[in-house]
Amino acid sequence: MVTAIFPGSFDPITNGHLDLIERALKMFDKVCVAVLVNASKNPLFSIEERMEMMRTCMTSPRVEVSSFRGLLVDFARDHDAKVLVRGLRAVSDFEYELQMAMMNRELSPELETVFLMPKTVYSYLSSRLVKEVARLGGDVSKLVPEIVVRELAGKYGKIS
Ligand code: PNS
Repeated sequence: MVTAIFPGSFDPITNGHLDLIERALKMFDKVCVAVLVNASKNPLFSIEERMEMMRTCMTSPRVEVSSFRGLLVDFARDHDAKVLVRGLRAVSDFEYELQMAMMNRELSPELETVFLMPKTVYSYLSSRLVKEVARLGGDVSKLVPEIVVRELAGKYGKIS
């Protein structure tokens, strides 16, 4: 029984994240999505809102959604996870991801980071850009789940 954690801010969840969770489910028995509480990043959505959106989008009983604060390696240990899944969209992600992977390995040598690539159409997609496009009135309905479209419209006061 191999449990993987899939951590992130998920502010908000995108179709790229969903694609990665699907891929992780093909490889691991259980996927724990770990939503960072993350006060310092000043997220658009509260932790409760991000968790609710995530839970609404999850259909597999093999996915568990939790929030976390503090070190990711501690969350992994508490959930008996031996694998940490991160997405790599482009070479530009690599430096930051490599640094995190090496630091996490230093902190917890038994936790293995695995990088997964999303579908090509999502390779330019980020939560930050989705928020910007939605804020400026653009259509994000092909980039995020329906619940996120609605929640973004609620935040920015317009239908995207
Ligand atoms: O979606 P994001 O913002 O790229 O996710 C970043 C995340 C949550 C994976 C990262 O910030 C994290 O692991 N934070 C927890 C703090 C921690 O463990 N830091 C040391 C490891 S580098």
